[in-house]
Amino acid sequence: MKLQKTDGEIYNCIQKELLRQNENLELIASENFTSLEVLQAQGSVLTNKYAEGYPGRRWYGGCVNVDEVESLAIQRCKQLFNAEHANVQAHSGTQANMAVFMSCLKANDTVLAMDLASGGHLSHGHKLNFSGIFYNVIGYGLDKNTEMIDYDEVESLAKKHKPRLILAGASAYPRFIDFERFRKIADSVGAVLFVDMAHIAGLVAAGIHPDPVKYSEFVSSTTHKTLRGPRGGFVLCRKDYAKKIDVNVFPGIQGGPLMHVIAAKAVAFKQALNDEFKNYQKQIVKNAKCLSSAMSGLGYRIVSGGTDNHLLLVDLTKKDVTGKDAQDMLERANITVNKNLIPFDTKPATLTSGVRLGTPALTTRGMKEPQMEKIAEFIDKVISSKAKESVVAEVKQGVLRMCKEFVLYPELL
Ligand SMILES: Cc1ncc(COP(=O)(O)O)c(C=O)c1O
Repeated sequence: MKLQKTDGEIYNCIQKELLRQNENLELIASENFTSLEVLQAQGSVLTNKYAEGYPGRRWYGGCVNVDEVESLAIQRCKQLFNAEHANVQAHSGTQANMAVFMSCLKANDTVLAMDLASGGHLSHGHKLNFSGIFYNVIGYGLDKNTEMIDYDEVESLAKKHKPRLILAGASAYPRFIDFERFRKIADSVGAVLFVDMAHIAGLVAAGIHPDPVKYSEFVSSTTHKTLRGPRGGFVLCRKDYAKKIDVNVFPGIQGGPLMHVIAAKAVAFKQALNDEFKNYQKQIVKNAKCLSSAMSGLGYRIVSGGTDNHLLLVDLTKKDVTGKDAQDMLERANITVNKNLIPFDTKPATLTSGVRLGTPALTTRGMKEPQMEKIAEFIDKVISSKAKESVVAEVKQGVLRMCKEFVLYPELL
């Protein structure tokens, strides 16, 4: 590879990261490993092209090939999610959300969204994010007993605050979301319904999570989580909002689209249209359910009692460790997780009482239920021993053996 000769420093960083990905068990619910084809499209000459505008309506010449790329991406995305309109240019999930906010709100308008402590995302109203700075965001939460969305509370907050926009979707919510109920609540107060399906897009594409598209005016997503595409975002909307969303992505919040990323999105959408992808998504959920019952069997409390999707939240209170401690201890044994607030957490977000475990990346490697059971044991050994050195060393050996059985990107090693 030429890079190796001309820029050894960066080449070595990439090689070390390939090794790290291969030798660690990746349980971060928002991460995944793309296919080689997605990597190839993203690493292509399309990165050289400026293409401000949309297919057939560009500001610069020379767009014949990128027009074809973007048209394919749009067509495949619409087909995959049965949507009337798709904009595939958003550079990220946060930018997709910003474009939706700008398409239906004025500054200081009221939005009702899941609060961050209950599992919402920072682009749904964090005070330092555009969403919290420019809009009046009211948070809804979870039912204390079930730890699931309290739809009655959503309804009464909607009646009280009369939001212009209601946002459904989360970063750390292990249960199905009832979009039909959200639609009814939105209709009862004349609000627009916007679903951020970033985490669950792959499950939705495979038809194993309730479909938000038929119930909402706008749906945004990332492409890099369960969907297994390149890092990026997109927005789906009804036909009557098509012009608005396009103009708010470009020139509203972005300049030239990342055509290499859009090509990689198109590749991922095509892969997601296959039956193989449906089976992959089913296995993600089977693995999450299996990991959840294995952890529960080892004495861990699982938030809401289980999972319907690709992730679970583990309450560590009884084990007397914080989420941060658990994350650090597990990392020493080559197990990557993230600390996460649990519902009604008494600890700050920098410490937390829980960890979030997700199965998309492990499932991509081909791991199934037997591995999930073993991984639950690994996690428990490290946490229960409070990361005793000999235990960490033993678990790490087991992790490395498992990783060797499920090699990632053999073509690149
Ligand atoms: C629900 C949700 N929306 C949006 C995003 C933002 O995506 P990005 O990091 O691409 O801006 C995330 C990222 O984790 C997310 O969980």
